[in-house]
Amino acid sequence: MANHEVTRRKFMWSAGAVAGACALRPLHSPLTFGEFRLRQSYAGGNVPLRDRAEKKGLLFGSSAQQKEFVEDPALEAAFIAQCNILVPELALKWDHLRPTPETYNFAPVDWLLNFAQQNQMKFRGHTLVWQEALPTWFASYVTPQNAQPLLLNHIAKVVGRYAGKVHSWDVVNEVIWPQDRRSDGLRDSPWLRNLGPGLIEMAFRAAAQADPHALLVWNENWLEEESATGESKRAFLLQHLKDHLSRGVPIHGIGIQAHLIGDHSNIGGAHFKQFLNQITDMGLKILVTEMDVRDFRLPNDIGTRDKAVADRYYEFLHTVLAQKSTIAVLTWGLTNRYTWTAHNSPRADGAQVRPLLFDEDMNPTPAWSAVGRAFDDAPSR
Ligand code: XIL
Repeated sequence: MANHEVTRRKFMWSAGAVAGACALRPLHSPLTFGEFRLRQSYAGGNVPLRDRAEKKGLLFGSSAQQKEFVEDPALEAAFIAQCNILVPELALKWDHLRPTPETYNFAPVDWLLNFAQQNQMKFRGHTLVWQEALPTWFASYVTPQNAQPLLLNHIAKVVGRYAGKVHSWDVVNEVIWPQDRRSDGLRDSPWLRNLGPGLIEMAFRAAAQADPHALLVWNENWLEEESATGESKRAFLLQHLKDHLSRGVPIHGIGIQAHLIGDHSNIGGAHFKQFLNQITDMGLKILVTEMDVRDFRLPNDIGTRDKAVADRYYEFLHTVLAQKSTIAVLTWGLTNRYTWTAHNSPRADGAQVRPLLFDEDMNPTPAWSAVGRAFDDAPSR
């Protein structure tokens, strides 16, 4: 690869590129970008997270859906003020993109990409290989004979369509699952059953070919616990990364989903720190891709709950941001108005869940302040 290409890639992946774009880009939204930003005067005169992240060379953002922006101007305004990176929560998953084996539904992705570009945000792609969110036609359609062209055509078409416009792609998602008891630790998924373990290399190489400028990410859950599960997931991931990198497979970073649990104290400990060091030593970038803190086991009292959630955000991010290879933090949703944890991890007492940075009234929560402090305390990169 030519030197200028390396430089260009580094620039595309960094927060500096966003700051640069802000200065050059004409303003298109009905309320200008600057007006939105000026409106954000939270109690205490707090500075938006995207500014505090950018100051340290970091990206901050969240997942969202088109209909949330269309139906909820308060969410739209907060997102524009706070975020310099956006990831579609659903629109790029197979079940949303592929209504039939022959057709693609790109309209919601195009809309979200345009929204990101109009508001000086980078855009993430999530995700190409995942055992969930497969279309209803998938199970009866896929065979060991057609699985390879099915996956490769999908990657060429989807990644190719957005080439040069995507900051990073979650090429594979949750492919390690030691509980399935395979000796290689890989998940016994429909993809694996039809393609074998070579599917990871196949997917990364196809993504690199379709978009040579995107950062290609291996995204995983449950990496942060000091438990047997956490240790085993980290060990298998490190082993596969070493193996793939030694064969020149274009993997550029890892995604740590970070769906944390509010009363967990066994996260982000010594083994996790050692793992982060090993990832950094391999020359890989680190992204926190889907952070939220589930409050289903915390007491009902809102003050107690919010404090525990905020503490988890700060402790975890303080640890991950200490690594200069960490380039981005994204939460899975920005406000408690829209969070998958409401259906995935509801509270037994029926109280509304509070896992994110803005509450039902779109006021910043203590978790918002905790994330801001973690950025302020992080070293520059
Ligand atoms: C979730 C969505 O937020 C939910 O709305 C959907 O029902 C299930 O998927 N890990 C991932 C995300 O990589 O894509 C998941 O998103 C949450 C867990």
